[in-house]
Amino acid sequence: MRAIITGIGHYVPDNILTNQELEKMVDTNDEWIVSRTGIKERRILGKDKGTSYMAVKAAEMVLEQTNTAADELDLILVATSTPDMLIPATAAFVQKKLNATNCWGFDINAACCGFVYALATASQFIETGKHNKIMVIGVDKMSAIINYKDRNTCIIFGDGGGAALLESSNEDELGVEDYIFRLDGSGANLLNVQAGGSLFPASHETVDKKMHYIFQDGKKIFKYAVTAMSDVSIKIMEKNRLTGKDIKLLIPHQANLRIIDAVAKKMGLTRDKVMINIEKYGNTTAGTIPIAMSEAYQKNMMSKGDWIIISSFGAGFTSGSLLLKWALD
Ligand code: COA
Repeated sequence: MRAIITGIGHYVPDNILTNQELEKMVDTNDEWIVSRTGIKERRILGKDKGTSYMAVKAAEMVLEQTNTAADELDLILVATSTPDMLIPATAAFVQKKLNATNCWGFDINAACCGFVYALATASQFIETGKHNKIMVIGVDKMSAIINYKDRNTCIIFGDGGGAALLESSNEDELGVEDYIFRLDGSGANLLNVQAGGSLFPASHETVDKKMHYIFQDGKKIFKYAVTAMSDVSIKIMEKNRLTGKDIKLLIPHQANLRIIDAVAKKMGLTRDKVMINIEKYGNTTAGTIPIAMSEAYQKNMMSKGDWIIISSFGAGFTSGSLLLKWALD
């Protein structure tokens, strides 16, 4: 049995935060942000809604697109680093809102690799014949953990997410073909949110020290990202005896345009073979890849039988690439 994507959708909030608006909030400027990152604006969900709100919107789009009833779902996987609450899993809120009455579900925290890890996890349940329909969601409300006085982070991240329906198929050639994943815990101190977990539970002290906000060492992450993402992306091509010429589209994690360009170059891909939308949304963490995939689908950038590579890196450090043969017309 093969695991194929039969529907893909996304949701981003309406509210736009532009570089010009950020200029009024921190010591930065549009030229610096665009030249260093490629980002022009990002979306912000607002205080009264959590991550599950966006997850549900994206999943509803996919259910409608594929003419699927929520109670047909066997499993809901939500990849997120910004759950609505620490307990229960965001998947529980999504299950309730969708009224998906015949499924189980859980969250996956692999930061920016969340969606690609979740897709691979879901593919196992399909390939073994255990399940037929799995909703795989990648979504983050990064604005909930951003210090809008920290120019190192507030210019980069945004809110949004996407969802894919993974189904079983008898067509041998289509769907998830292979993946290569890595986890390198030596990077844990370079990109993190320290407080709010069991090591540093919320306290006046953690709030005073701003430990609930995301911290990053941008320079070190940049170098690691280019190396790690290129490595897994090139390896998956070599392992499957493919070259840049065989790949129709790279859907990379949208963290920084310079990282994307460097990875694509090392893979032997020209810009027209790379899905890029970072200028509109910034880095939505687990959301970037399904949002990009959904927009690529809307723009008819993929046809049935095309080789697609998804690749990502994130906090952990996590990194990974997934090769699939596109199954939709
Ligand atoms: N606006 C203006 N200036 C800024 C700035 C901002 N938002 N942020 C930093 N600067 C300043 C720095 O203070 C530094 O000034 P100095 O030379 O006087 O010390 C200068 O700009 C250069 O900073 P530097 O950190 O060297 O810039 P950079 O070219 O490495 O770009 C990032 C910074 C964060 C854009 C880049 O390192 C990056 O994208 N890293 C990866 C981050 C990432 O992807 N995180 C998510 C992982 S999933």
